[in-house]
Order: sequence, then C-alpha cells, then structure tokens
Amino acid sequence: MNATLFPQHLIARKRDGHALTSEEIEAFVRGATDGSWADYQLSAMLMAIFLRGMATAETVALTEAMMNSGLIADLSSVPWPKVDKHSTGGVGDKVSLHLAPMVAACGVAVPMVSGRGLGHTGGTLDKLESIPGFRVNLSLEEYARQMEAIGVALIGQTAEIAPADKKLYALRDVTATVECIPLICASILSKKMAEGIDALVLDVKFGRGAFMKDKSRARELAAAMVSIGRAMCKPTRAVLTAMDQPLGHAVGNALEMAESIACLRGQGPADLMELTFVLGEQMLLLAGVARTPAAARQQLAQTLANGSALAKFREIVTAQGGDARVLDDPTRLPSATLRAEIVSRNAGYVTDVNALEIAHAALRLGAGRARAEDAVDPAVGFSQLVKVGDGVMPGGVLAVVHANDHDKLAEARTMVERAITLGEEAVPKPKLIEEVLG
Ligand code: URA
Repeated sequence: MNATLFPQHLIARKRDGHALTSEEIEAFVRGATDGSWADYQLSAMLMAIFLRGMATAETVALTEAMMNSGLIADLSSVPWPKVDKHSTGGVGDKVSLHLAPMVAACGVAVPMVSGRGLGHTGGTLDKLESIPGFRVNLSLEEYARQMEAIGVALIGQTAEIAPADKKLYALRDVTATVECIPLICASILSKKMAEGIDALVLDVKFGRGAFMKDKSRARELAAAMVSIGRAMCKPTRAVLTAMDQPLGHAVGNALEMAESIACLRGQGPADLMELTFVLGEQMLLLAGVARTPAAARQQLAQTLANGSALAKFREIVTAQGGDARVLDDPTRLPSATLRAEIVSRNAGYVTDVNALEIAHAALRLGAGRARAEDAVDPAVGFSQLVKVGDGVMPGGVLAVVHANDHDKLAEARTMVERAITLGEEAVPKPKLIEEVLG
C-alpha cells in the first residue's frame, strides 16, 4: 500500500486539522469495509473527524465513498421520477406508512429503504411487520422488480447497501462520535443515494423526542444535508419539524399502523396529516408532477378522497406478502391482552405531552428495543393520546395503555401520567413545521 495512505498517517492528518483528499477518504472507507483498518484505527479517525469537522467537499467524498462501499440499486427501468422521504426519527412518527402510497398514487415512484426502531425512536420496519406476513427483507433484485411493477417498495436496509456505514455506525455508537454533522450526513445520505433515487425530502426533527434536541443544530444538519445532496446532483429539501410531543394519537407498532390506515381513509389526526401533506408537497414538487405546494396538496388530498392511496397500499402489502385484510379490518392487527384508560381527575388544558417520556414508557411495555438484537412486541403501546392545547374534562381520557404484562402496565401508566401535564389556562397548539430548506 502507498505509505501516504497508511491509517496512522491519515489519522494524523485529520488530527492536525488538514482536509483529507478524496483518495484518502476512500482509503479510510475501504479500510472500514474490507477490515484492513483495525477498529481502533477507524475509531481514532472517527474521533479526529468529530473534533476537527469536515469541509463540504470532504463530506461529499465521504458520502460517495460510503455509498460506493456496497451495491447501488439500478432503478433505470422504473418509468417514474423517484423520490424518497427520510425522517431523522421521532416518537409516533408513522408518516412513511401512508405518505409512500399517497405519493406513489400521484405518479411518483417511492423507493423507500427504512430502519428499525432503536432507543426511544420507533422504526418504520417494525410498524410494517405488525401486518401479519409482511416481508421487509427483499433482496435488491426483488426490490427493483417491485419498483418497476408498482412504483413503490418499503424495505429494510440490506447487507448490500452501504456496508461501510454499518461498520462505522456501530463504532460511533460506542465511541461517543454519533453527534457529528459530517458523519451523520454521510451515514444517512450514503444509504439514501444507494436506493436509486432522483431526489430526496428529509424530515429533520428537533426537540425532546428527536435525535437532535437543539433547533439550531438540527437546522445546521438540515442545511448540510441539502448541500451534500445538491453536490451529488440529487435535489434535496429538508423540512425542519418539532418533536416535543408524539405525532398523532398513537405510539406502538400495530397501533401506529392502525392510525396510518385511518390516515389513508381520510381520518388522520390534524398534526400528522399536516406533516404528511408538507412532506408530500415537497416530494411532488421535486418530482416535477406539481408546480406549487397548493397544487401538490390538492393531488395528495385527491388520493385519499378517491381511495387510490389506500389501493396503492393494498398493492404494497400484497406484493410484500402481508395480509391485506388488515386494511379493511385493523382489528386483525396484533392486539394486547390488557387495556387501561388513563383519565383526568380535573378539568383543564393539556400543556405538555413529553415525547421522550412517552417513548420510554412505550419501551418499558416492549414496543421498542434498547439494543439492536432485542425483539419488539407489536401489540403494545398507547392510543388516544391527548395533544397539547386540548381541553379535558374530569374523567376525560388522556391515553389508553395497551400491555401484555400487569407490572409493565402499571409502570407505563405512572410514566404516562408523569409525561402529561395539565394547566388551568388554555394554551395554543404548538408550531409543528418550522421551516423548509432548499
Ligand atoms: N441515522 C443514521 O442513519 N445515521 C446517523 O448517523 C444518524 C441517524
């Protein structure tokens, strides 16, 4: 190997604040992929990047090298513009489940490779798998065939996509180098760009229930991802959104699936539908099938009114081996054995529903995973969660707990009671959509 590409030499260059060349970055990513760099060398480089940062050109080179570390889906035979949406993760965020079929019903292909829930954030794949039989682990070939046939696929990350990210993310997780904007950009965008997209819409969340707590840091991340996407010739927009209270009224895999089915039937909660429309508008604008946000919203609303979005979801579920009868009868989704209402003792107004505490309560019930290898219970969680700004009467329902274990139910109940705050004064509904970047 060329001595100038030795790990210790490249680590020293980054440690000393130099910008790495594309060739140097490719050597680092190759080292992560083929195992020729030891974990301690990769970790040292990650920490040097964390401390020294990266210029835009370096982040673009890192994203490209990570994307090229695996296969890139060939969707050239898919006859529609291809636009995906990615969320940085939140609590009760089930937008992808109904947004993908809505957008696909407007004539835009949606190649969606999603993740599993980890820590306090839920994952689209776990929600999809609450549908009996639904397969998320399609091969890249099956994925491309489904994209060609119905213009949409909702699948999990395959081992073939950006393997360098898998290695580097696992090391970041245990070396305190997750919260680094260039590393986050390269991690998210390398996987998205390998899906075969033409354009991308990002939902970048900030607040207690988000991965980025701070709004200005989230804006920085959003702006960085927009510029990296643009530099890679994939038009990218980012919507900056609040994640202080859960989205919609349901948290938990099957419960969220049922709420998404309600959205497809035109009965979705206001906050969830507002976010769905704003993200969908940006997808349609980038795809060139609408000229204004208002026109895009009208097309999206039409897919709900005429049943075409629900029909498209039925096609997805059937194509991926799921029991499509759940769309007509959501009681076929897994349900918990225990159910308890949490009711208000007093009259008042909801001033806070702490998304992070609700997420921890859902984790306690078994709805999520603390470690990647944990199994999830699809049936447990919360429904009928109140929203900030709601008025409640004595005896009014604040939430319904769905559990499969008495002790866990009792603990989750206490946690949810703590997460919801009531006040005497009416408070306005909080702002959900902060800004659209790009
Ligand atoms: N999600 C990712 O896929 N990667 C990150 O680095 C952070 C969030």
